[in-house]
Amino acid sequence: MRPVIRIINPYDAGLFPEDLIRKGFDRGNVIQLASNENPYPLPEEVIEAIMKSVEVASRYPHPGYRELKERIAGYVGCSVENVVPAAGASELIKLVVDAVVEPFDRVIIPMPSYSYYVLASMLRDASIIFPEFEGYKIQPEVPYGKLIFLCSPNNPTGNMIERKVVEEIVESFNGYVVLDEAYVEFSGKSCVDMVESHDNLIVLRTFSKFFGLAGLRVGYAIASQEMASALEKIRSPFSISQTAYFAAIAVLKCIDYFMELKARILKERERLRKELSKFFQIYPSDANFLLCRHSFTELTAKLLEEGIIVRDVTGLMGLDGPHVRITVGREDENDRLIEAIKEICG
Ligand SMILES: Cc1ncc(COP(=O)(O)O)c(C=O)c1O
Repeated sequence: MRPVIRIINPYDAGLFPEDLIRKGFDRGNVIQLASNENPYPLPEEVIEAIMKSVEVASRYPHPGYRELKERIAGYVGCSVENVVPAAGASELIKLVVDAVVEPFDRVIIPMPSYSYYVLASMLRDASIIFPEFEGYKIQPEVPYGKLIFLCSPNNPTGNMIERKVVEEIVESFNGYVVLDEAYVEFSGKSCVDMVESHDNLIVLRTFSKFFGLAGLRVGYAIASQEMASALEKIRSPFSISQTAYFAAIAVLKCIDYFMELKARILKERERLRKELSKFFQIYPSDANFLLCRHSFTELTAKLLEEGIIVRDVTGLMGLDGPHVRITVGREDENDRLIEAIKEICG
């Protein structure tokens, strides 16, 4: 086995409702606010598409994923040749690193940010540099390297990187720039149009957050034609399942439905921000979650006793002191969260 496999920690996805149910909680009483998913049900048309996919589940999906690419290209406003679908943005992070990083190449990961960038880079024996920016306020002067990971809106801080900063980095950086836009629909401000004029930019997107398909695993990259063909070449055969393929096409036909949900999520985010700021320091958010700095010992454990799962991100490089990241849930879920926090912290 390669030595790096012995030293890396597995990706920590946090707790899941199943973990609490195993401890005796009722499924109906558990609230999952830890993974930044869309908490609302899928529209009927998407459920129907998923059921239709089941009828052909004994067959492989066509490996060209043509209709999905066309729909994504139409949604994003780019050409089909620039689109690479995959089994989630996570698979694309790994594909990009595999495509460009040689052992000991420098990978720049501004922190605090999404931890899977680190794991994927370690697996390629990269030499990783972690510039730290308080509140992830990225400055355009970054160290040189083969690859840099930018995340906008950023997980876990929730803020966006200003367009002019992204532009300056893309233009001055000597390697490839991954811009992870997993939460971009909540901010409404994308830099994906820059791909057309910058061959070193790779934008990653996902269907797991705004489009509510986290359980089906599908995302995409927008990149230069050369990079897109490279990523296609190294993606595992058929990595997007027939069901994920059908569902992703279907959600792209229901954008109005998801825009309505977004409006509800943003309204709830503001309500949560107001309520939680009575107890915590809340970071400004352009995403569907809030990062909170707090001073309550055992906060996450006490919320767990109430069946509420939030993400404890204390100790993440670039965060000073105890922090939790809380996904904006449905109205009823947020009511329960607010009540529980009042009881624990009030
Ligand atoms: C910033 C960021 N990028 C990528 C991902 C992975 O998304 P996917 O579900 O598409 O693999 C996540 C998931 O939490 C994320 O927060």
